[in-house]
Amino acid sequence: MKIAFVGKGGSGKTTLSSLFVRHLAVTGSPVVAVDADVNQHLGSALGLTDEECAALPSLGAELPAIKEYLRGGNPRIADAASMIKTTPPGRGSRLLRIVEDNPVYRLCARPVTVDGASLRLMATGAFDEEDLGVACYHSKVGAVELCLNHLVDGPGEYWVTDMTAGADSFASGLFTRFDQTFLVCEPTRKGVAVYRQYQGYAADYGIRLHVIGNKVESEDDLDFLREELGDALLAGFGRSAWVRRTEQGRAPAFTELEPANAEVLRVMQETVDAAHAERDWGRYTRQMVSFHLRNAESWGNAKTGADLAGQVDPDFELGEHLAELPEPLGV
Ligand SMILES: Nc1ncnc2c1ncn2[C@@H]1O[C@H](COP(=O)(O)OP(=O)(O)OP(=O)(O)O)[C@@H](O)[C@H]1O
Ligand SMILES: [Mg+2]
Repeated sequence: MKIAFVGKGGSGKTTLSSLFVRHLAVTGSPVVAVDADVNQHLGSALGLTDEECAALPSLGAELPAIKEYLRGGNPRIADAASMIKTTPPGRGSRLLRIVEDNPVYRLCARPVTVDGASLRLMATGAFDEEDLGVACYHSKVGAVELCLNHLVDGPGEYWVTDMTAGADSFASGLFTRFDQTFLVCEPTRKGVAVYRQYQGYAADYGIRLHVIGNKVESEDDLDFLREELGDALLAGFGRSAWVRRTEQGRAPAFTELEPANAEVLRVMQETVDAAHAERDWGRYTRQMVSFHLRNAESWGNAKTGADLAGQVDPDFELGEHLAELPEPLGV
């Protein structure tokens, strides 16, 4: 199950991503956590030291190797250089699974242990000026989009992405790649305004979007969110002394998280799990193809000197039925 956390800067995306990831890991689920936010803080929220965070490999830097691996023996993709972030998989491509060992994880993921449970962490690498707001290949989040378009994940397995809500995710198809999007929203007008903007895009693409209120301090805060958001509001996460203690470096055990906040995490997992029945791999595949054709035309063809529409395999549909296929020859 592919999950995104989005929301206004400072709303608590990283905090709630890291808590959700902990909840999943300690309850025994396989998890890949991906830091795709402008400010890279997921590692430290998961308890890594500054040195460990600095040593995390960057998906952006490994993009050529990722492309080379995913391309596999797909005859429609001449070489890694002609593969752009939206190039869809086809027959012969290599796919990714949540639970497996593969060169992408070996290069880009690091194991992290939280409260005795283990998960994989990947990071896009910090964004620089060049990366922001552009649809082209500079974008480091492109590596995440490429991986998601090659991922065959099943129920009970989780890929959790800490993202921005900003224009950068709308410039590409990334925001459409998730089974569940959680928009983190403080009980303020600005937080709600970011939801409304996001919701506009989400509705056009059939995106499953729920709001998690955060830093909720009172029933009055919850009333405000209910009035503004109606059914879109899933739950309100309280202002948390546990979170504050974590930020102070006092590393409280996860079991000490306030029970009401732990319950919010449980409800979130339930909501994600319910999304499985709504999955539509046909639509998922069609959307990736449509974003690819758009990117090809607007910059990809010019950049690679080829007609990238030819990369689309018309008879290929991504789906869980492919999860058990043997690796293509030549691995
Ligand atoms: N429920 C909470 N209780 C207490 N403090 C919180 C809570 N949620 C977030 N915070 C604090 O608010 C600050 C911002 O949170 P966080 O870094 O998670 O936000 P963000 O949306 O990821 O920000 P950015 O846009 O910078 O990536 C941090 O200091 C964090 O500890
Ligand atoms: Mg953050």
